[in-house]
Amino acid sequence: MSAASSALLEIDNVYASYGGIKALKGVSFSVREGEIACVLGANGAGKSTLLKCIMCAEKITAGRISFCGMPLTRRPHPAVRGIALVPEGRQVFTHLTVYDNLLAGAYCRRDKAGIKNDIEKVFALFPRLKERINQYGGHLSGGEQQMLALSRAIMSRPRLLLLDEPSLGLAPIIVDQIFDIIREINAEGTAVLLVEQNARKALSICVHAVVLASGIVEAQGTGSSLLADDTLLSAYLGG
Ligand SMILES: Nc1ncnc2c1ncn2[C@@H]1O[C@H](COP(=O)(O)OP(=O)(O)OP(=O)(O)O)[C@@H](O)[C@H]1O
Ligand SMILES: [Mg+2]
Repeated sequence: MSAASSALLEIDNVYASYGGIKALKGVSFSVREGEIACVLGANGAGKSTLLKCIMCAEKITAGRISFCGMPLTRRPHPAVRGIALVPEGRQVFTHLTVYDNLLAGAYCRRDKAGIKNDIEKVFALFPRLKERINQYGGHLSGGEQQMLALSRAIMSRPRLLLLDEPSLGLAPIIVDQIFDIIREINAEGTAVLLVEQNARKALSICVHAVVLASGIVEAQGTGSSLLADDTLLSAYLGG
């Protein structure tokens, strides 16, 4: 089987711009079914833009993004096709309770019993959220909001989970917990595309890693090969 035929997500020579600002300049790589891949890079490298393009929230100006061999388009929306995003800055619904945030994550589903079951699963992963079930999203701590954003995303039962800097601003102990859960979610069969500035942490859990610099793929390889590349780590990933 070729690499292309086994790809779940394929990014092929993708360009994207904001007016005159070229954010992505010919990005290509793929994510295979069931793997953890990560995209690393400094501020402004184009990481969030790439995730927005996958969700069709930003337009690509050239190239192609395919999921399960079909181009991703606004209709049917990527969320309906099995892609969920945990956005930069979490963006939980601040005026909805924890419970209603979780239900919002399941808006594409009609299986009431399955949704109820998955809410229980989420509460088993994050007991803290169960304790705060009726609290407004906006009243949670940063770490709790990250747990809620991740839980809301998995409530859609995605085949591919996109995570934009889940460790940002969190205490190391919460970061470890979030990364453990990402691994657990992946072990149940969900592919993960993780955007991170915490390079060492991300490289330690991913199979495939891509380094973006100013909208260009500067390097890619296995997590362990990039982790062993001190020159690359210090040049692009803050040492
Ligand atoms: N809405 C926007 N309008 C104009 N320019 C934008 C917009 N969003 C991003 N950019 C620009 O596009 C480039 C890529 O931004 P992007 O947010 O994708 O980077 P990033 O790698 O996610 O950075 P960070 O690590 O800081 O989150 C940057 O130069 C940024 O200034
Ligand atoms: Mg970003």
